[in-house]
Amino acid sequence: MTSEHVRPIRRDVAGRVEIIDQTLLPHVFRMRRLDGLEDAAEAIEAMRVRGAPLIGATAAYGMALAAAADASDAGLEGARTRLARTRPTAINLIWALDEMLAHLGPLAVEARAAAAFARADAIAEEDVAICAAIGAHGLAMLRDLLAKKPAGARLNVLTHCNAGRLATVDWGTATAPIYMAQDAGLPIHVWVDETRPRNQGASLTAWELAERGVAHTVIPDNTGGHLMQHGLVDVVIVGTDRTTADGDVCNKIGTYLKALAAHDNGVPFYVALPSPTIDFRVADGVAEIPIEERGADEVSHMTGMTADGRVATVRIVPEGAKVANYAFDVTPARLVTGLITERGVIAADRAALVAAFPEAARAAGRIG
Ligand code: MRU
Repeated sequence: MTSEHVRPIRRDVAGRVEIIDQTLLPHVFRMRRLDGLEDAAEAIEAMRVRGAPLIGATAAYGMALAAAADASDAGLEGARTRLARTRPTAINLIWALDEMLAHLGPLAVEARAAAAFARADAIAEEDVAICAAIGAHGLAMLRDLLAKKPAGARLNVLTHCNAGRLATVDWGTATAPIYMAQDAGLPIHVWVDETRPRNQGASLTAWELAERGVAHTVIPDNTGGHLMQHGLVDVVIVGTDRTTADGDVCNKIGTYLKALAAHDNGVPFYVALPSPTIDFRVADGVAEIPIEERGADEVSHMTGMTADGRVATVRIVPEGAKVANYAFDVTPARLVTGLITERGVIAADRAALVAAFPEAARAAGRIG
């Protein structure tokens, strides 16, 4: 099977749920079936699927798989509890679980399984539409930046982690404007942060940009500041796992350092996000967002392809070295030039977020 246009989560011809196993990329492309709640939970925990919107979609299908086995109130509550503890940071997970429960709760138990798959399908399609809208708004921003450059110059975008099609159902968030710019014929080039420790940039973003024919260069994570000082970055676009009511942005560890460097060099720093990533219940991201700490082996070891074509894992620190592995950090709103949402590019502050998404703000009690 080729990878082209295969969504990272989809239903096969028989209606079964399958995912691209992202732990094998970029060396091996393989689909993996999710046969039940536990498969879905394991896929999120093991990061076979990852990225906030895709975690949300997978959780929705996890609820549907659970409903197929036991659609009672207790069964659904148990599934919610299991899926909610898979990963702590991406708020799309909780959003999707609550959407599913709210949808299924009023229905007769016998009707719930079919309704659950239909709602999960709808959540997946909604994500595609949202990301396409983010792309259209982001494209307008990229056109404006390009218009300010000398004729014939290319636009250099820097991105961190993978907020691409592999992190969503399609298009990606940070990559949607890039793909639309490429499709529109704009001369665009992407600096891809490798994104240690799991290398989502080097392994996933580089893979999918190549798939779409977008010019790109993989850089070590500590290169961005240097590039910005030399005028080689026109704009930074990243994704987010959770954005607070005040516009603070939680994203992959290292994002904050890029925002600081962008601020120091007058480079615009945009965050692309679908509305389910906004957490109106949280205001101060640094104080209130739980940051996932992951296993030491992600830092102490690296996996890659050897010269003879084997995928191998090697240790890169002294045996027994102590390591720390914080998976996310928070970029304060004051460092964010704008939020690229499905409803337009808005300021990273409470007034703009509430004005753009009043229904979500109201549901969280932020407005009366
Ligand atoms: O740990 P991951 O790979 O799930 O982290 C992903 C990110 O940090 C993405 O930038 C974020 O989820 C936005 S994805 C559209």
